[in-house]
Amino acid sequence: MENLTISYNDTPSYDIIYGNSFEELLQFSSSLNLAGRKVMIISDTKVASLYMDAILCVIKKAASYVSTYIFPEGEQSKNLDIVRNAYTKLIEEHFNRNDLIIAFGGGVVGDLSGFTAATYLRGIDFIQVPTTLLSMVDSSIGGKTGVDFDSYKNMVGAFYMPRLVYMNLSVLHSLDKNQYYSGMGEVVKSALIKDREFYNKLRNTEVSFEKVSDETLLYMVHSSNIIKKNVVENDPTEKGERALLNFGHTLGHAIEKYMNFKLLHGECVFIGTIMASYISMRKGYIDAESFDDIKDFILKMELPHIEALDTETIISYTKNDKKAIGNKVKFILLKSIGDAFISTDVTDDDMRDAINYYMNNINDSL
Ligand code: GLY
Repeated sequence: MENLTISYNDTPSYDIIYGNSFEELLQFSSSLNLAGRKVMIISDTKVASLYMDAILCVIKKAASYVSTYIFPEGEQSKNLDIVRNAYTKLIEEHFNRNDLIIAFGGGVVGDLSGFTAATYLRGIDFIQVPTTLLSMVDSSIGGKTGVDFDSYKNMVGAFYMPRLVYMNLSVLHSLDKNQYYSGMGEVVKSALIKDREFYNKLRNTEVSFEKVSDETLLYMVHSSNIIKKNVVENDPTEKGERALLNFGHTLGHAIEKYMNFKLLHGECVFIGTIMASYISMRKGYIDAESFDDIKDFILKMELPHIEALDTETIISYTKNDKKAIGNKVKFILLKSIGDAFISTDVTDDDMRDAINYYMNNINDSL
């Protein structure tokens, strides 16, 4: 599959490389001149237990000094205390501006390591080596880095570009079913906002966890990356179009927070996607047939059952969303499948209807 380059103002910024092993990382990292640099690999306990030895073996061949910082797996680690511990380790091991961080893991690892790189000594290089479907299709690209603050998701952060994104697609085999479908939340989102043909292809391809082929996985990652590349190149710091990537996220994030991060991000994006599609239909943008098609497709992805949701609390959480403008929620709706737009006309009643619809017609049957 053809590698991609993300450019800003027509100047190449960093490459996205597709491989099938960690060894290949060496040949692509030669341009990073690792020989005279220290490298800190930041990861979580789960990824480290599976793959740290494999990546260490590769990076040790190239870098002058390699160290690791491993923190407990999960969204609860995405906070400033863990970043502080990473700073301490970097300082104690005398990392300087010429040195480099490797973010080795899923979305939490990528966001937190990227933020550490963005802020340590006012910024040192980092590369993204995403290991989950979700981080491959979305979070490792586009330079959003950051951590949660108290219960506010991604509230502290920086736009800071990696020097390279390297994807070893073979690690996707170790994903469990929930993580796979969580990643699919961002794949389906990408198709719905920008690419009807991609959506139709997904509809007609075997994408179940049990039967998805390597070829389909690569196709889904690559197609999602092309969509994201086009969006972030046009609008790197979310002044406009980049907000489209938040389709399904306004209510999705609110549910994620309400559920105390017990559900995976992509699972909440799927729930938010059904609700946002429902609002798009109720407001007369997409027809009932398109809404049913989206809903039926998503329902094949084994959504979790939610015991109860307090509608008013969910709505209040959408106002805290950092994407809100004043009291108005910046909501992403669909004009049609493959064509999303930013709306500031979604009312609390629209959200109430969508939440009630979801809880009574979908959640009850899960
Ligand atoms: N995950 C949404 C974005 O990168 O803008």
